[in-house]
Amino acid sequence: MSRIIDGKAIAAQIKDELKKEVAQMGDRGITVGLAVIQVGDDPASTIYVNNKKKACEYIGIHSVSYELAGDVSQQELLALIDKLNHDEKVNGILVQLPLPEHIDEEKVITAICPDKDVDGFHTENVGRLTVGKDGFLPCTPAGIIQMIKRSGFSIEGKECVVIGRSNIVGKPMAALLLRENGTVTVAHSKTEKLKEVASRADILIAALGKPKFITADYVKEGALVIDVGIHRMQNQKMCGDVDFENIYGKAAAITPVPGGVGPMTIAMLMCNCVKAARR
Ligand code: GUN
Repeated sequence: MSRIIDGKAIAAQIKDELKKEVAQMGDRGITVGLAVIQVGDDPASTIYVNNKKKACEYIGIHSVSYELAGDVSQQELLALIDKLNHDEKVNGILVQLPLPEHIDEEKVITAICPDKDVDGFHTENVGRLTVGKDGFLPCTPAGIIQMIKRSGFSIEGKECVVIGRSNIVGKPMAALLLRENGTVTVAHSKTEKLKEVASRADILIAALGKPKFITADYVKEGALVIDVGIHRMQNQKMCGDVDFENIYGKAAAITPVPGGVGPMTIAMLMCNCVKAARR
């Protein structure tokens, strides 16, 4: 039997902690504000954005949303970010990704003031993470660290294998595990003998973006397996990058999809918003 790590429950605990803190800040006259920008009407993005707004409402964070047309110019988007950078009521700015092709994502991310970059995507915050300075941490990897620690697992000295090297998950995940004194390997699509590399892991992070790719032969007996993937199958059910049923019993613990990493990402975004206001 494998233990199933309940990300939804851990996220709920974190949100309750934040709700109390936001109420106390309110008593001192401090409000927390998040601006959420969505460009176009991608259905998946709409769901993510709505979940973020719902979490804000629960905690007592004032969220303001900007729904821009899919053909909005880059200049208009940058002008909005500039306005929000100067708005004292706005502590955090989030631009939901991906953006339409005609917009330069990197330009948009770096236009956000690093002190309001609650996604932790700005190069300034990426650099801060890399050299171990305080800054905003990207929400998915930060949520995974919290989930591991709050479930009673330690990272120090453990073999950690991250499969995937995206700027949003893989790379910052590796940096965070290293900061926790893990022994870190980053594997990717060009990695040779991936099964061998993955099966070395005490902590395996699957963030490769391929449905049910990770089967039992990628997993060491007794490993902790974190599934970052989220895919909708033909039968409309959700699945992750890990073949849950196939590795169940071999891993010591697994995060489910849905109800694992996803809710933790939102909880960490809320943490970053509160941190931004605290500053
Ligand atoms: N798109 C997918 N994940 C994320 C995220 O964590 N933040 C933003 N802004 N966009 C995303």
